[in-house]
Amino acid sequence: MERVRVLAGHLTADCLDINEPSISRISTNAASSQGNTVDARYHARTGINSRGDYEKMYKRSIQDPAGFWQEQAQAFTWQRKWEQKHMDFNFDRWKGEIGIEFFKGGTTNMSYNCLDRNVKEGRGSQICFLWEGNDVGTDRRMTYQQVLDETCRVANWLKQEGVRKGDCVAIYMPLVCELPIAMLACARIGALHSVVFGGFSAEALASRIEGCRSKVLVTATGGARGKKPIELKKIADAAMDISKKNGFQVKSVLLYEHPAMPKSKVSSQQGRDVWYHEVIPKQSSSCAVEWLDAEAPLFLLYTSGSTGKPKGVVHTTGGYMVMAAVSTKYVFDLQPGDVYWCTADCGWITGHTYLTYGPLLNGATSVVYEGVPTHPDPSRIWQIVEKYKVRQLYTAPTLIRTLESHGDEFVTRHNRSSLKILGTVGEPINPRAWEWFYKVGGEGRCPIVDTWWQTETGGILITPLPGAWALKPGSATLPFFGVHPVLVDDKGREIDGSGEGILCMKTAWPSTIRTIYGDHKRMEETYFSTFNGYYFTGDGSRRDDQGFYWITGRVDDVINVSGHRVGTAEVESALQSHEQVIEAAVVGYDHNIKGQGIYAYVGLHEGVERSAQLKKELKALVRREIGAFAAPDVLHWAPGLPKTRSGKIMRRVLRKIATKEESQLGDTSTLADPSVVDKLLETRGQ
Ligand code: WT7
Repeated sequence: MERVRVLAGHLTADCLDINEPSISRISTNAASSQGNTVDARYHARTGINSRGDYEKMYKRSIQDPAGFWQEQAQAFTWQRKWEQKHMDFNFDRWKGEIGIEFFKGGTTNMSYNCLDRNVKEGRGSQICFLWEGNDVGTDRRMTYQQVLDETCRVANWLKQEGVRKGDCVAIYMPLVCELPIAMLACARIGALHSVVFGGFSAEALASRIEGCRSKVLVTATGGARGKKPIELKKIADAAMDISKKNGFQVKSVLLYEHPAMPKSKVSSQQGRDVWYHEVIPKQSSSCAVEWLDAEAPLFLLYTSGSTGKPKGVVHTTGGYMVMAAVSTKYVFDLQPGDVYWCTADCGWITGHTYLTYGPLLNGATSVVYEGVPTHPDPSRIWQIVEKYKVRQLYTAPTLIRTLESHGDEFVTRHNRSSLKILGTVGEPINPRAWEWFYKVGGEGRCPIVDTWWQTETGGILITPLPGAWALKPGSATLPFFGVHPVLVDDKGREIDGSGEGILCMKTAWPSTIRTIYGDHKRMEETYFSTFNGYYFTGDGSRRDDQGFYWITGRVDDVINVSGHRVGTAEVESALQSHEQVIEAAVVGYDHNIKGQGIYAYVGLHEGVERSAQLKKELKALVRREIGAFAAPDVLHWAPGLPKTRSGKIMRRVLRKIATKEESQLGDTSTLADPSVVDKLLETRGQ
């Protein structure tokens, strides 16, 4: 532990509960699931059909990464080729600044490779996006040519508004085709997009708009998910008001009229807001691409960490493009013309890499579904699979558990014979849900690719390749090509063979996070200082005797709610902003459907009534500050918090109380006031 502290030299040693057993907490789940092997037969068109095929290619990718990746990159259009020594990285802070470089000297364009290249290769009239609305019967299809034309129009409008290479455009949209189109339009002219998930609140949107000084916002009147329409424009207006007070003004707003929220129901500000359907059709449908350096930033995407405000993770053009394309191709065995469906929203990294860029780079047809998968009933997802004859279905464990809870009949009433590959992402999948997805969802014939990755990794790093080896429910299995994972112990020593430790990456892959927008130092501290020389993932993992990885969950103070990362610090700070609250501490606990739920301990000022009304108010406060998905599931009025003599909250104790495992509290002798624990136990459930 001491060494970690020395190397870290700052807060990570504190937020990393290495000496607190969050690792063992989760490993008990995973440990039970070692045995069962499932051999789903599948013949991959990529030619990787055995572990031997994989080993051969994997070995090459590790021994000669520069050669391997440049070979992969050749499938794309580059305006200028990379230099001979195109790849370099430094993960060692003692050697100097952390940096990663791929395809140095090369220039390319993401929008060109996603659209123009496909049109040139004869896929202009092939469907690019199959859009399905929230309400049954609402749908729309766009060919590659149509998406290209529309992307050009939006790009031309952005240019007209003064957006230039390197500027940042904020996008706050429902999941309509215009959302990935806006992303592609930014990419075409070298502007960075910053997509903010439509479920984020006005405060959260405001801080993201200000964070990258987006003068242009692309938004919509509203959106439709489930029964009630979402008032996006109202939230966007509130966000822009907040930003204005903070001294930052959005200059122009491109406003898309969503049928669920007609024009007449929203206000628009003259001189700032323009209607999409009025200005975009007038733009030219051709727009020359801006050829960009491989290392030019492509986008930023905010994500929560264990401390402080969300960070703007930056990905760059060339490396991210190649990783998105190659991982989609091999993991989903994706070929041009395949109908592929990733259920994520573009507001998250999965929607960037595996709904938009990955499928388009492979010339596939990407299904885009705006609504909730259980609307109007839990058969919807399978109905869409049947309607579009989906071949690959990529979704999240939380959704699988929800569907499972509704029973098999909703699934079996639809024809699923088109399905060939299933995928999951976002959190460890429990073996029971895995088996249900496999047997019921996929009729016991589709391999499940349990893909492990992160916003910062840009693409999938640990995953099965379909048909190449037998699966084990709950294991993400083996590293993808060019990925070099290691497990380290709490002192940063690599663990050989089977064992359990903290998951790190020893070398760079093309879509490694490049920086945190405007704060390179924070990126170095967050990912490269816990264990010098390694990229620190924040996850624990076990490796079995076959070399398979079993991700056990976060080892830092990040809670994974339904596959979405929620930083404890953010929720705590929202709660603490209430005038009746003195202190708050937030931990995760096992939740049947969400994977983890949010458990908040709240200390109130003297004399404040501990009412149900106040609980409601506090939950609403978190919703307002962050978004609905971050609202605590449980609020516990805490008479005090367990703190060490140095004032650090002992979260391990809070986690045990939340999960009713108080018999395993461990050593509490270092608490400043050990009686706090009994008081917390007495007040639980009140
Ligand atoms: C965290 C990253 C990457 C897209 C979605 C989430 C957890 C992700 C898995 C998996 C176990 C997983 C990790 C990771 N996670 N995939 N297959 N098995 N855990 O992206 O919000 O950046 O969160 O999600 O804890 O660190 P994210």
